[in-house]
Amino acid sequence: MAVITICSAKGAPGVTTTALLLAALWPRPVLLVDADPAGGDVALRMSDPAGQPLDPARGLLTLLPLARRALSPQSLFDHAQTVAGGTPVLAGLAGPEQAGAVGALWQNLATAFGDAATDVIVDAGRMHSTSVHLPLARYADVLVTVVRAEVGAVMHVREQQRALGPLLQRPDGRFPRVGLLVVHDVRDLAGAAEAAETVRSAVSWVEPVGQIADDAQAAGMFAGRPIRRPERSMLVRSGRQVVQDLLHRLPAQPGAAMPVVGSGTWSGPGASPNRRSARRQPGRQVVR
Ligand SMILES: Nc1ncnc2c1ncn2[C@@H]1O[C@H](COP(=O)(O)OP(=O)(O)O)[C@@H](O)[C@H]1O
Ligand SMILES: [Mg+2]
Repeated sequence: MAVITICSAKGAPGVTTTALLLAALWPRPVLLVDADPAGGDVALRMSDPAGQPLDPARGLLTLLPLARRALSPQSLFDHAQTVAGGTPVLAGLAGPEQAGAVGALWQNLATAFGDAATDVIVDAGRMHSTSVHLPLARYADVLVTVVRAEVGAVMHVREQQRALGPLLQRPDGRFPRVGLLVVHDVRDLAGAAEAAETVRSAVSWVEPVGQIADDAQAAGMFAGRPIRRPERSMLVRSGRQVVQDLLHRLPAQPGAAMPVVGSGTWSGPGASPNRRSARRQPGRQVVR
């Protein structure tokens, strides 16, 4: 199925928040992989559907010993945990030391994500031409860079894309599609469009894939701060549009099966949320 890798060039424009948002709104079965080499955040920020903390040590780290050989598609789900809202998540690594030790296994992980029974959204953190986890960019169907519409940030993305582009070619000669997602105030569509155009005009293969609302209050629900009526927030509304845009850029897919997650059964992103716990739990709030 499809792999969407989300990254940044510099700073913290909102990669993790955007990855969690898109996964929560994704209309097909999806696995979220926290693959930021600087250290995973998702398991630390999100709780499980019962409001209990996730186990930050269970995820990529426990999967790695298996990744020395070809990973079976089910093994990704055996090491995943379900977060509030129903998204299965592979928790990330502790930090750069662990990420560096993964070495050649990043390639095996990238292959396994492409072979997964569901779509996979990868939070890749910062990505540049010398990144240890470059295979996660190269073997994505779409590599999306998140950027704020600020002059310095846009310039850094332009340089990131120039350096990264040629390295994204796979042995069969193909490339991932390369998208740019601008986090910006939705009242300033022109500002977001100008930022995207600045990059696209310099790096021809970059495709603008829309705008995510700069909405600090709603973004807080992915950091343990629930809000009322999240579906009305600009963040969620903008996220829905980006999901549609991304789906149009993916190869046509047959219907996905729903694998079993970890020791429990995957409630699935389409499962109907318990309204009472929906008020308490971040992420679960993002209702379709
Ligand atoms: N769309 C957004 N609007 C407003 N604030 C955001 C948005 N996305 C992220 N943030 C905030 O920016 C900070 C960094 O977000 P995070 O997702 O962790 O970024 P990254 O993964 O790029 O480091 C957090 O405080 C988060 O709440
Ligand atoms: Mg992050």
